[in-house]
Amino acid sequence: MPSITVRNLNNSVKQALRERAARNGRSMEEEARLLLAAAEVPAPKHIVSFDDASSSRSATSMNTEAGGKKILLIIGGGIAAYKCLDLIRRLKERGISARVVMTNAAKEFVTPLSIEALNHDKVFANLFDREAEHDIGHIRLSREADLIVVAPATADLMAKMANGHADDLASTVLMATDKPILVAPAMNPRMWSHPATRRNRKTLERDGVLLVGPAVGEMAESGESGKGRMAEPYEIIRSIENLLDTSPKPLAGMRAIVTSGPTHEPIDPVRYIANRSSGKQGHAIAEALGRAGAEVILVSGPVNLPDPSHVETIHVETAREMQQMVETALPAKIAVMVAAVADWRSTDEADEKIKKDGGKGPTSLKLTENPDILKGLGHHENRPDLLIGFAAETENIEEHAKTKLERKKADWILANDVSADFGVMGGNQNSIKLLSASGVETWPQMSKEDVAKRLVDRIANHFDWTTTSI
Ligand SMILES: Cc1cc2nc3c(=O)[nH]c(=O)nc-3n(C[C@H](O)[C@H](O)[C@H](O)COP(=O)(O)O)c2cc1C
Repeated sequence: MPSITVRNLNNSVKQALRERAARNGRSMEEEARLLLAAAEVPAPKHIVSFDDASSSRSATSMNTEAGGKKILLIIGGGIAAYKCLDLIRRLKERGISARVVMTNAAKEFVTPLSIEALNHDKVFANLFDREAEHDIGHIRLSREADLIVVAPATADLMAKMANGHADDLASTVLMATDKPILVAPAMNPRMWSHPATRRNRKTLERDGVLLVGPAVGEMAESGESGKGRMAEPYEIIRSIENLLDTSPKPLAGMRAIVTSGPTHEPIDPVRYIANRSSGKQGHAIAEALGRAGAEVILVSGPVNLPDPSHVETIHVETAREMQQMVETALPAKIAVMVAAVADWRSTDEADEKIKKDGGKGPTSLKLTENPDILKGLGHHENRPDLLIGFAAETENIEEHAKTKLERKKADWILANDVSADFGVMGGNQNSIKLLSASGVETWPQMSKEDVAKRLVDRIANHFDWTTTSI
């Protein structure tokens, strides 16, 4: 009987499957089945999930940069509390240990027993528990962690935090800490948009509390949708890893501008010219630059991706808006122009929807060339010290990229073959040729995250070399 073992998929496919499954609230196994069904591949009888295949995995550390750190996880009383089981499992996979505090309301949604069994540690819940207080105590709980994470942060818990309440263990610990606090709000969209919650959120932000989410989506309990859904565990993990990150920051003190995604060029109020760019490569580069310590401004066209953490994201639609935002963000040491900017826009954008004129055939579109953002930067008086462009090509890749390098006065061009059968546009893989004045480097096919990391290493080396050679 045929079978697929999720564990044996390559890492980037596994990561994409994990993210997709998390986004859709399904197990990896379920997601794999649905994908195969959608592709009309006969579903194998057995799809062995990561966890089925390796029940001892939870004890194995992936040894990330944040590994060895400790967090205190405070679980509030919301329906999303069940996601904390997944969150704890993922923390353990990364070698991050979690102590757990539950509010009384949280215990109505998940049992302390499930958390204790998964976490191999006692759950703390009662401020006046003599034994627990003697054992570790609320002050130690709040001081011993490197980071405090509140997930789900209910409207009530946020209100308590914003107003300095300390009437149970969770709120007392939050008052007694001097450690960074990350909250993952989760509530009904009306609760999230209520003026009281809006005030509390602002107060918390002013107090230096960091937020992840909430996302827009369907509410688990009511079938309603809107903003208020808790960020998925993988997103919370990403924020935790960023906050605990102690990796070197070779680009600290440098400002970088990155563009990402497609642009949409309106034809009329309902139609536009676009392309298949997903923004995955540009967003991964912005995030990797941020992780390396750069101050990053990401100018993004319309994409279906969350804003990367530690990056200031500016959302735009058209090429002209993108150019304006990029130039406003100058001066910068580094600019990486990844966006697939539409070459043309409609010359006469219609104010009203263009009507189908029965029998006369399609209307013809007159096009005007859009500004060339990369070329504009190459010739700008505030030209970034290192100007990098992307070239999406389908033929004569090296030749076209070389012309682009010279014509646009860029320092490096990263050319990718968008006709590759692994699907660069919208996909998770890329294969790059890096062209510079010193020649051509060919990188093997790798995930877009790995392209981003490799590029950031090259950038760091470039500046290291530049400064040491002066
Ligand atoms: C079924 C159910 C689901 C709930 N889900 C949420 C929620 O997602 N977010 C929220 O803010 N409150 C939610 N509440 C209300 C909280 O449980 C209530 O405000 C509680 O006092 C919060 O306690 P805490 O401060 O310990 O988190 C829910 C209540 C019920 C009965």
